[in-house]
Amino acid sequence: MSIETGIDGWLRYAALPADISSQYRRFSSIFVSENIKTSPVYTAGKEVQDGLRRILGQEVGISFEIDSNHTSAVIISTIDTSPTTLSTAQVPKLKEDGFWLNTQAENDCIHIIGQNERGALYGAFEYLMRLAQGNFEPVTAANNPSAPIRWVNQWDNLDGSIERGYGGLSIFFRDGEVVEDMTRVAQFARLLSSVRLNAVVVNNVNANPKLFSKTNLEGLRRIADTMRPWGLRIGISLYFDSPREFGGLPTSDPLDPDVNNWWTDITAKLYEKVPDLIGYTIKANSEGQPGPLTYNRTLADGANMFARALKPYGDGVVMYRAFVYNHHLDESKWSNDRANAAVEYFKDLDDQFDDNVIVQIKWGPIDFQVREPPSPLLANLRKTKVAIEFQVAQEYLGQQSHFVYMAPLWKEVLDFDMRIDGKPSAIRDIVSGERLNWSRSGYTTVLNIGSDNTWIGHHLSLSNLYAYGRMTWDPLSDPTSIIQDWTRLTFSLNKTVVDTVTKISMESWPTYENYSGNLGIQTLCDIIYTHYGPSPGSQDGNGWGQWTRANATSIGMDRTVASGSGNTAQYPQEVAKIYENIETTPDNLLLWFHHVPYTHRLKSGKTVIQHFYDAHYEGAAHAQTFPTEWAKLKGLIDDSRFENVAFKLQYQAGHAIVWRDSVNNFYHGKCGIADEKGRVANYPWRIEAENMRLSGYTVVSVTPAEAASGGKAIVTESNENPGTAKAEVPFPSGTYDIAVNYFDHLGGVSKYEIFLNDQCVGKWSGDLPSKLGHDFSELLDGHSATRVTFRSVPVAKGDVFKIVGQPDGKELAPLDYVSFLPEGIVD
Ligand code: GCU
Repeated sequence: MSIETGIDGWLRYAALPADISSQYRRFSSIFVSENIKTSPVYTAGKEVQDGLRRILGQEVGISFEIDSNHTSAVIISTIDTSPTTLSTAQVPKLKEDGFWLNTQAENDCIHIIGQNERGALYGAFEYLMRLAQGNFEPVTAANNPSAPIRWVNQWDNLDGSIERGYGGLSIFFRDGEVVEDMTRVAQFARLLSSVRLNAVVVNNVNANPKLFSKTNLEGLRRIADTMRPWGLRIGISLYFDSPREFGGLPTSDPLDPDVNNWWTDITAKLYEKVPDLIGYTIKANSEGQPGPLTYNRTLADGANMFARALKPYGDGVVMYRAFVYNHHLDESKWSNDRANAAVEYFKDLDDQFDDNVIVQIKWGPIDFQVREPPSPLLANLRKTKVAIEFQVAQEYLGQQSHFVYMAPLWKEVLDFDMRIDGKPSAIRDIVSGERLNWSRSGYTTVLNIGSDNTWIGHHLSLSNLYAYGRMTWDPLSDPTSIIQDWTRLTFSLNKTVVDTVTKISMESWPTYENYSGNLGIQTLCDIIYTHYGPSPGSQDGNGWGQWTRANATSIGMDRTVASGSGNTAQYPQEVAKIYENIETTPDNLLLWFHHVPYTHRLKSGKTVIQHFYDAHYEGAAHAQTFPTEWAKLKGLIDDSRFENVAFKLQYQAGHAIVWRDSVNNFYHGKCGIADEKGRVANYPWRIEAENMRLSGYTVVSVTPAEAASGGKAIVTESNENPGTAKAEVPFPSGTYDIAVNYFDHLGGVSKYEIFLNDQCVGKWSGDLPSKLGHDFSELLDGHSATRVTFRSVPVAKGDVFKIVGQPDGKELAPLDYVSFLPEGIVD
């Protein structure tokens, strides 16, 4: 099998088997109505030429003049430049960016006609992606977007790092400046355009005003010029206090004339370089950022200042983020609730925003958790147009070291009926603008594409970008068929490949939810440090407001009007009623809305605590099936991507056990209620490292304690000499998988070897930071805890088991425990 890097993503255009491609018609030429290289129609022609060559093996020439006897041509144009009146007559009215694809046109031609140039390119991609899947079904149809705003937000910093980025450094910036080489930018634009996304905000919402330096303005021009032929426009994030901190003004007050002039001037400079700039994204009065409230002005005053600056340039918009909340909230006050913030800050400003302001709302009230109800603000703005913000970046969903396919999650959000004024109000119809008659609204997502060949750190996770594009265009799309299409395009048309990737993908979100946080409690990761591994205790006892209010007897946020924060009342009446009542609140959001005893019985009949225990066992057990399922694909896809994904799914399976045990032990410790099935705090197949005979190793306590089995681990006594841990195998003789739980953190690459009776049966290095892209920790904790497994080792009772750990730098070959796993046991 050939080596594939993943760089082409789903646009590999792999050759169809000859017996299939030979059945397809042969083309005489590709007619393109635009002979200007910057035009997306021109790009479409090139793309079709390339696609026909790669998919069908047909060399077809491009012509810019239509031949009057044209037959068997692919004709690409906009509706206004179409050379054939015959075909345009059939085209129904298209929406902005829409297209018409007719594979049964007169003279045996294919017609791809865009409402605009971008639409023509989308049509070309649609046609090619059908061909690449071996789909020769005739089609004659118009295809229109659900919403005009279909953006992505990269959180790239000027130094080249990416906030919440797990797939390498920025493709836009390095060392304070825009990069020279635009190769990756063009490749990125191609991927985005193929799923009909139309704008990229290129820099972090935590923005740096150095973006306005002369060199960077010129750099932005380069980025925009590179993206334009792909039908993409760029926007930028602004730092609210720029006039004061960067411009030398005494204030950044949005009503101060000098401040307004400053922004007008910056805007003029930007438009000089990027005449089709799509607009500004603003994070203000959020997580310590300054904003209009800092100057005693309203959020609308702030947003409108940018709106005025953009107004003269046409259709540029201000995407004003609703992620405004107090992160020093006092938990001791029962009624305090971060989930209330967005509505509290924005609802009363509904009629105060200028026409070119869009309020950008995270899909849930808190922050991209594994499960949240939809943000109530989505049902509270009537006049102000909104964009929903998703997060393709898996910040709280395993950071692309775990794989979670998010289309099913987004679908649940988009299908949710808000019942505004007691009428059907699916969120997809609110954000499309249909429900409240908005002209411009839609979608954006946090995206963390980087310079890694996988783009995003995990080959499978790129499916989320593809799915995001598909769903913004058509939110009624089915997540299963999206992943099937993606798999055929990305890996292979082989049925086993398609079925296997689909199965893993569709099971990935419920599995992750099971082992990371159930019943609406949120993702129980460490929220203070890296947002990655488990640390359920970190949610409470701080001002961030992601509270669980777990104590010795009860758990959950009381968001009811009757006795809690009143958050339920922020939803339209019919929805509010459902969430206010514990009986009608769905189990999967129980702890989001209600504070209950651990012994509260769910609709399933289980108690809350038993559900926690069971779900974590089920989730972790299910994660073990992913690498096994994936193993079926050996030889069916290229080795390089096969091995890469196999490694990651195996890592995920190990870390899922860390999650299971951390969360279960934490709550078991808190409430003291035993697991009915006797699993929690009882691990019959383990030997704790701290109970082994140690030489050169010493026992340490781990924080949080639940991140280590028994709360303790061992580390070498120095960072030079190896340590040894020994024990006699107490288990019956047989064949076992030997799993070693250890910690892999920043600061060194330890080396390990395991022996049975002095015979080496396995070795590994603590080199995960070079193989996985998530935010690594420097400590022994739930982020660094991990597992390596050696399969099918014959073991006799009484054998001497020995681990030798060689420390390196700050990493002292840390070990937690060893498990001897008989077949079918996950301990
Ligand atoms: C999250 C995330 C931050 C980000 C913020 C935002 O809190 O952890 O890194 O800055 O969201 O959306 O602005």
